[in-house]
Amino acid sequence: MDLDESSLLDAVLATLDGTPDPRLKEILTTVGRHLHAAVRELRLTNREWEQAVEFLTAVGHTSDATRQEFVLLSDVLGVSMLVETINGAHAGTESTVLGPFHMVDSPARELGDSVNLIGKGQPCVITGSVRDVDGTPLSGATVDIWQCDENGFYDVQQPESQPPGNGRGLFHADDEGRFWFRTVVPSHYPIPTDGPVGALLAATRRHPYRPAHVHVIAEAPGHVPLTTHMFVADSPYLDSDAVFAVRGNLVTEFAEVTEPAEAEQYGVSVPFRHAHFDIQLARA
Ligand code: BEZ
Ligand code: FE
Repeated sequence: MDLDESSLLDAVLATLDGTPDPRLKEILTTVGRHLHAAVRELRLTNREWEQAVEFLTAVGHTSDATRQEFVLLSDVLGVSMLVETINGAHAGTESTVLGPFHMVDSPARELGDSVNLIGKGQPCVITGSVRDVDGTPLSGATVDIWQCDENGFYDVQQPESQPPGNGRGLFHADDEGRFWFRTVVPSHYPIPTDGPVGALLAATRRHPYRPAHVHVIAEAPGHVPLTTHMFVADSPYLDSDAVFAVRGNLVTEFAEVTEPAEAEQYGVSVPFRHAHFDIQLARA
């Protein structure tokens, strides 16, 4: 029997009837419907379909254990942030994307330690707290942070000039839920553009930049783990993040401090930059 444009979709959906997992059936049915609708609406040519397959093949070939081009594609299409938004709709500090530069084992550090293992650059002190949504301090909460350097590079991108663990630290909040550490102010930076996602950005005349930020994962027993960023308030690209991950209330002042007594308190010299970030975790 000949299939036309719409009976073809019905035939495909009928093949899913015996799927035992109802969620898998629902996902494949919805994706199938939208995919067919897009192809019909676009009147896609054979050459365009081949180009789509070539593009996705290149995305796969560019992915390996240390690089995930499919995640990057999801990021620049806004899908990562959409999934984050759907699943992060609970009380407490807002979440944002994880990104590809997190190491599962950030080096454990003491409160007050510096994550700037190179020692150059204007000092920056980051202080903050981790609390329950009712304001109760979460003593011993873990705060995992990672950031790029003042030139916009993560340690893993420059193994020849940055020691492993530069810009990274796993801290334990004190009895009052407070944490603090020394670092440098991160720079804005481009997401990787040397693969097919970079080609897609170029073809659509999009810039690849992310505004300056410090990544944070905060966790405490009985609470929902939070993956988020502190965005540097005076950074370029806050209004046009290549991965759509900025949330206004995560934008944090990194104020310049010239008061020597304050510098002494944190073991830095003036002038230094100071940012403060209070985190609230939702109950699990
Ligand atoms: C990051 O912030 O590390 C990042 C997030 C998404 C894509 C690329 C980089
Ligand atoms: Fe980042």
